Amino acid sequence: MKPKVFVTRVIPDAGLELVRAACDAEVWPGEGPPPREEIMRRVPELEGILALLTDRMDAELMDAAPKLRVISNYAVGFDNVDLAAATRRGIPVGNTPGVLTETTADLAFALLMATARLLQPGVEFVKAGRWHTWDPMLLRGRDIHHATLGLIGLGRIGIEMGRRGRGFDMRVIYASRTRRPEVEREHGFEHRELDDLLREADFVSLHTPLTPDTRHLINRRTLALMKPTAILINTARGPVVDSEALEEALRERRIWAAGLDVTDPEPLPADHPLLSLDNCLVVPHIGSGSAAARDAMAVLAAENLIAGLEGRPLKASPNPEVVPRSRR
Ligand code: DGY
Repeated sequence: MKPKVFVTRVIPDAGLELVRAACDAEVWPGEGPPPREEIMRRVPELEGILALLTDRMDAELMDAAPKLRVISNYAVGFDNVDLAAATRRGIPVGNTPGVLTETTADLAFALLMATARLLQPGVEFVKAGRWHTWDPMLLRGRDIHHATLGLIGLGRIGIEMGRRGRGFDMRVIYASRTRRPEVEREHGFEHRELDDLLREADFVSLHTPLTPDTRHLINRRTLALMKPTAILINTARGPVVDSEALEEALRERRIWAAGLDVTDPEPLPADHPLLSLDNCLVVPHIGSGSAAARDAMAVLAAENLIAGLEGRPLKASPNPEVVPRSRR
C-alpha cells in the first residue's frame, strides 16, 4: 500500500508525477487553498502533506494527524508551519531553498527598477492618451546606478539582490543578525546597523524570514529614519512591514515609493488604500514565479515528501535534527 498524502493545490507536473508515482495522492483541485475543515477532515488518515504557504500547519492539525510523518512545504519560507510543534512531534518539515533564489532576486530588482523609473505611472499615462509630446519635466524618476542599496537580511536571496545591485554600480550595504565577512569580501558589501542602513540607503530591500523578531520591522519608527527619496522593496513576507504605517508614509511622501510582491493582508483586496497610491507598485507574490523555478520547487517539494515517507533525510529541511520515521 502506498502512503496516503494530500497535496493542497495543483502544483507543476514535474513534482506531481513524482508524488503520484510514490504515493496514494489526493490533490486539492480548487483554485484557492482548501478550507481548513477540508484539511482537518483528511489529516487523521494522512502520512504526508505537501502544503503551500497559504496552509496553516499548526499544532492542532498535527495532533489530529497521528500517522503524519512529513510536512513538505512548497516554499522556501515556512512561517505557515509551527516548526517547534513539528519538531516536538518528530515530524520533519521540508522547504525549497536554492531553486528560487535568483528568480526571486530578479523580481526584487525588477520592482526596484520599476518603482525608481516610474514604469507603472508611465504605462498608465500612455494608456490614458496623455502622451502628447516629449517633455523634460515628465515622469522624472530616480537613478539606480551609483545609488545605495540597503539589504535587510543577507540569506541567499539577499546576496543575489546585492549582486544585481553591484552589476548596476550600486553601493551595497546590509544589516543582518549575523555579520558575514566572507560575503563582504567576496561581493564588496558593507555592514551597517539597521538604523544606519535605513538612514543611508536609497533603496531598502527586505530579505528576512517572517519571525516574531521581524514582524513589523518596518514600522512608523523605522520608516521615519528613511530618506524622503528612498524606495522600499518587499519580496520577503507581508507582515515584515506594518501596512498602515507604510500607507501613511507613502501618502504623505515621507518615503518616495514602495514595490511590494508580498503584502499584509495577502491577498490585498482591490479596495485596499495602498492600491490607491500612485507611488506604490504591488504584484501578487510572484517572486518565484518563473516556470523553471516553480517546476524546480515542485520537484524539490516532492523529493522532500517522498524522502520523509521513506524514512530518509529530507533534501532541504528547517528541522534537520528530526530523524524521519519509516512506516511501522
Ligand atoms: C517562498 O518560497 O517562500 C516564496 O514566498 C514563494 O515562492
